[in-house]
Amino acid sequence: MPPPNAAIDISSPATERPFYHAVGNEERVFAAAFRQQLPVLLKGPTGCGKTRFVEAMAHEMGRPLITVACHDDLTTADLVGRFLLRGGETEWVDGPLTRAVREGAICYLDEVVEARQDTTVVLHPLADHRRTLPIERLGETLSAAAGFCLVVSYNPGYQSVLKDLKDSTRQRMVAIQFDYPHQDVERMIVQRESGIGPHVAEDLVRLAQAIRRLDGAGLREVSSTRVLIAAARLAQAGLSLREAAEAAIIAPLTDDHAVGASLRQLVDVYLAGQRHD
Ligand SMILES: Nc1ncnc2c1ncn2[C@@H]1O[C@H](COP(=O)(O)OP(=O)(O)OP(=O)(O)O)[C@@H](O)[C@H]1O
Ligand SMILES: [Mg+2]
Repeated sequence: MPPPNAAIDISSPATERPFYHAVGNEERVFAAAFRQQLPVLLKGPTGCGKTRFVEAMAHEMGRPLITVACHDDLTTADLVGRFLLRGGETEWVDGPLTRAVREGAICYLDEVVEARQDTTVVLHPLADHRRTLPIERLGETLSAAAGFCLVVSYNPGYQSVLKDLKDSTRQRMVAIQFDYPHQDVERMIVQRESGIGPHVAEDLVRLAQAIRRLDGAGLREVSSTRVLIAAARLAQAGLSLREAAEAAIIAPLTDDHAVGASLRQLVDVYLAGQRHD
């Protein structure tokens, strides 16, 4: 039974490598960190491929992937495990972190800064040369199996300074900076993920780039690769490009009328041609 409070996903290595198109040297950095048993910190805005990257790397390294979506109610017990009452007996149930440590899995803590520092302190001995996990309730200290790798992600853009990762945690990790891909790569990703033709994909990417240049103009986040793919998929399902952009790009990005209006102007400029291919 999964512990309450934690959104957890456990998957064996996929038979096919999940599609991830490298943007820089991130795959080589990850592979080197994995070989050297160093933990990895992925930084970057929403929808830029961090999760997909970890899925592809887990496949590449042949390790199961255990993902935990972190939040501020997450407790150490949610990660490590707890005693549960079953049929009148109390039974210890491993949490996702403990499971990953025992099985030699990749443990991906998504949005790790959402978790409180008293929760993440359990990561320290795991993140340095000790590679150990003390389980106080069991009076045991586990040594991580060979394939264990701790991967955490966070989005520096919308985290408050207060919630920033502790320096002592950060400095235990190899950091990989993610950003939205270069135009040609992003077009390829949008095409591949949605099945849309190259011209429409290119128009969507140009629109996204124009929106990204607006950074700071009333938008908390700019248009991600994810929203472009969603717009392309809506277009594939029969919506006009404008309708698709409205539903998948503009409305999710802002509730503000004035900002929405300026985004619509960009849509008019970049998607006006209604190219189909
Ligand atoms: N480099 C890439 N190669 C392949 N697909 C990509 C790439 N970048 C983004 N994508 C696509 O964009 C979608 C969103 O990426 P993903 O879910 O990995 O983002 P994320 O960085 O984890 O976002 P969040 O911070 O919101 O969790 C993926 O499902 C995938 O379709
Ligand atoms: Mg993600």
